[in-house]
This record gives sequence, structure tokens and C-alpha cells, in this order.
Amino acid sequence: MHTLVTGGGGFLGRYMVEQLLARGDRVRSFGRRAYPELETLGVEVVRGDLADQGAVVAACDGVDLVFHVAARPGVSVQRLPYVQANVHGTKNVLHGCLTHGISRLIYTSSPSVTFAGEDQNGVDESVPVALDWLIRHRSHYSSTKAIAEQRVLQANGEQLRTCALRPHLIWGPRDQHLIPRLIAKAKAGRLRRVGTGANLVDMIYVENAAEAHLQAGEALSQENSPVAGNAYFLSQGEPVDCWQWIDEILALAGLAPVKKSISRQAAWRVGALLEATYGLLGIRSEPAMTRFLAAQLATSHWFDISAARRDFGYEPRISASEGMQRLSRWLAEQA
Ligand SMILES: NC(=O)c1ccc[n+]([C@@H]2O[C@H](COP(=O)([O-])OP(=O)(O)OC[C@H]3O[C@@H](n4cnc5c(N)ncnc54)[C@H](OP(=O)(O)O)[C@@H]3O)[C@@H](O)[C@H]2O)c1
Repeated sequence: MHTLVTGGGGFLGRYMVEQLLARGDRVRSFGRRAYPELETLGVEVVRGDLADQGAVVAACDGVDLVFHVAARPGVSVQRLPYVQANVHGTKNVLHGCLTHGISRLIYTSSPSVTFAGEDQNGVDESVPVALDWLIRHRSHYSSTKAIAEQRVLQANGEQLRTCALRPHLIWGPRDQHLIPRLIAKAKAGRLRRVGTGANLVDMIYVENAAEAHLQAGEALSQENSPVAGNAYFLSQGEPVDCWQWIDEILALAGLAPVKKSISRQAAWRVGALLEATYGLLGIRSEPAMTRFLAAQLATSHWFDISAARRDFGYEPRISASEGMQRLSRWLAEQA
């Protein structure tokens, strides 16, 4: 297989690249920055922006299979960069696949495409995409991921088979987003529990998320694959108490548990104010709170993953406790 991974130098993408190399694929990665560590592994690193159609189409040349993992994450208030990377970027990847006769595309989506501000307890893929709520509450990341997911699934057909995977809260060694931010906020004394602290959330250890992508790609190669045209939630299959889990991560870094708290309503109002201020002043960095974040941090969201188990044999092979040990070792190396 000659395989393209967009975002192959990122957190999830790099684990996927390593697993693809281990099974014998030739791997090309697409992203804006240089990744000498990938080149050392034998990966062909192609530099370009998802918004640049020519660059994306060229990166698809000669490839059998595409994992479209790259995306703009976060909670910045300017919408355009999200539309450019996540919506136009995905349209460009689809164009690249069709131009070069690629037969399989696996899109990394997010469970947050279905989030509408309410608890999600054990929901399965019958829950609808919450595009209106996400647009109304200016979650540019989730709403653009939702639009992209819909386009990818609509593109499923005879020439190109597609599917979308929705891993929830990916964590593990080499994470540059969630865990470093939690630790930095806790160190600065700025971490507050939002809501009652009784909410359950799903999460997925990064190597399990990577393996699920490879399994879905394999399943897509079958004639009449049940995976084609569908979206799947992915997790460890055992939801955790959100704030206890955060305390566990902090403990690994030698930090005290979260003590300060704020109600969901107060966090929502702070988020609304910060969104308005950042928008008015054109501030490009991410506000510390948004309405979307307030709602996410205060609610339960965990999912039924039986469809992924049934249709492509997904199992979270690395347990949460083993993952914690690996994370702990990595954090110790970073200290
Ligand atoms: N992390 C999570 O908890 C989580 C949960 C659900 C879904 N996801 C999804 O999983 C995927 C991977 O997330 P991650 O945590 O691995 O993120 P990440 O570490 O930030 O990796 C994202 C990658 O995308 C590339 N990228 C971003 N914007 C680009 C652009 N305009 N053009 C070309 N490349 C671009 C980045 O490379 P360059 O900077 O070199 O361009 C980076 O390698 C994303 O699709 C995300 O939506 C993540």
C-alpha cells in the first residue's frame, strides 16, 4: 500500500504513520511544517497547506489509500481559518482522491459534531449531527468538522469509499494539546472545575485510536463493506469521571487536584463575554473560556461503540491503566 496521511506529523497522525510503517506501507505525510523525525523513519514528507488545492491534489498522486487526519483544532473566535483548513481542506482532499482514482478515504472526525449542549449518555451513531447548535454557539472547530464529515460521507460511492471516525478525547504520550495545557493551567492556578463535577466522559488512548483507523481502512477494502458511507464513535469503551481523570493526570505531573470551581451558568457567561471581546478586538489567540467549552466541561458525553466493534473489529487493546503508565513515563522524561 502507498498511503497518504494528512497531518502525519501531529499527535494522532504520527502514531498512525508508525503503525502503517510497521505493517509495511509506503507512507507519505502532508502538513505545513518540516518533520525530520518522520523522514528518519522513511516517510516522504510533503509540505503544504490544506487550503491549497494544487498542493493537496499533488500530494494524492500515486496513492492507494488516504487517511485525512489534519485539521485546525481549538476554540479561536475567528471562523475563516477553520473554514479554510477543515471545510475547504477536506473538499480538496476529496478532489485529490477523485482526480487520482484513489479508492478509500478515512476521515478523522470528532464526536463533538453531535454535541448540542446537553448530556450524551451512551448514545450511538443514530444521534444527529448538531450543526445548527454548533453554528449558533460559534463552535467553529466542531461545526466545520461536521460540515467536512457530511461532505466525506456524501462522497461515498463506487469509485471512492469513505468513512468517518469520531474518537473522543485522545490522550497519551506526545500530546501537545490537552495534557500540556491542563498542566500549564494547573501550575498557573487557573484551572477550575466547571459545573457539579459529576459528569462522565469517554476518552481514547492514542494508539487505540490510531489502530482503529487502520482497521476501518482495511474494512473499507471489502466489497459491500458496512463501513462505507458511515461514521463511528471511538473510545476506550469505559467512560470516566471527567474531573477525577483530570486530577489523575495532574497527580502524574506531581500537581494537586483541582480545587476551584465555577458553575456552568457562570462559565457560560464568561465564555460569551470573552467570545464577544475577542471578536470585537480581532484577537487571534484562544479565549480561556467559550460557551461551547463551558457546556462541554459541565456535561456527560460518552458513546456506544458497538458499531465500531461490529463493523471493523475495533477493540481498545491498550487499557486505560496501561496507557496511564505509558503517559507517566513520558511525562517523567519531559520533566
Ligand atoms: N486530540 C483529540 O482529542 C481529538 C479528538 C477528536 C478528534 N480529533 C481529530 O483528530 C485529528 C488529529 O488531531 P491531533 O490531536 O493529532 O491534532 P494535531 O496534533 O494538532 O495534528 C493536526 C495536524 O494537522 C496538520 N494541519 C493543521 N492545519 C493544517 C493545514 N492548514 N494544512 C496542512 N496541515 C495542517 C498539522 O500539521 P502542520 O502544523 O505541520 O500543518 C498537524 O500535524 C484532527 O482531525 C482532530 O480534529 C482529535
